[in-house]
Amino acid sequence: MSQASGSAAAPKKVTVRSFAQAKARKESLVMVAAYDALFARLSDEAGVDAVLVGDSLGNVVAGLETTVPVTLEQMIYHGAAARRGTARALLVVDMPFLTYQVTTERALLNCGRVMQETRCDAVKVEGGSPEMAETVRALVRAGIPVMGHLGFTPQSVHVLGGFRVQGREEEAAQRMVDDARRLEDAGAFSVVLELVPAAVAQRVTEAVGIPTIGIGAGAACDGQVLVLADLLGLTDGFAPKFLKRYATLAADTRDAVRRYADEVRGRAYPGDEHAF
Ligand code: KIV
Repeated sequence: MSQASGSAAAPKKVTVRSFAQAKARKESLVMVAAYDALFARLSDEAGVDAVLVGDSLGNVVAGLETTVPVTLEQMIYHGAAARRGTARALLVVDMPFLTYQVTTERALLNCGRVMQETRCDAVKVEGGSPEMAETVRALVRAGIPVMGHLGFTPQSVHVLGGFRVQGREEEAAQRMVDDARRLEDAGAFSVVLELVPAAVAQRVTEAVGIPTIGIGAGAACDGQVLVLADLLGLTDGFAPKFLKRYATLAADTRDAVRRYADEVRGRAYPGDEHAF
């Protein structure tokens, strides 16, 4: 979806309605996962449609192996920071493990807290079981926009047996189509498809009226999401097949810090021009 859809002076704020319109117009949606005001602002200024404060911050920022230990307080801290950097894009905050799966009442209270304390525009939850769909229905009824997440759902990594493509067998592929339809029927405005064969992602995309946002799910999705640190080349040890790097900031950062250290040690920095 291009920024041109808003006026030239003040680009129009992206809403869940814009997501629906983008699917109807066959315009590709662009989302990045970013976790703070600085990178959310740079992404917003670059014209992305959505900033996702993903619980992947557990891996990227906190150095954890999985997203399972990420807490509600951490998501609220990062969500509020990203809000301060995001003006135009839709701001979506991931609900962390066990904050929405136990009971619908707890999901309502926790998602409501995230909406109130971060001032985000929507939350994201993983899974498409009948129970999850009922939770999504209750959230939407309470006024909380929900993005779903199917395919590889990182909070279930221990059940899924690792970081692996989902839906390769027909039964699992059909289950994904059914889950996506169920989320749509419950009122979700969009659904992320992670690590899904391209043909299956296309089937899901054609089966639902809400936009699918793919990561490792091929080109037929209605939009794409990447973790910003990955696309910037900051996480140069992480190289899944689906990832395309658009910069080499890990190498640039090491090089800049080395040059700074050399200049400090060589007494070349600070120079006269940097002194008061
Ligand atoms: O946590 C995250 O960053 C995500 C995206 C990869 C979709 O869920």
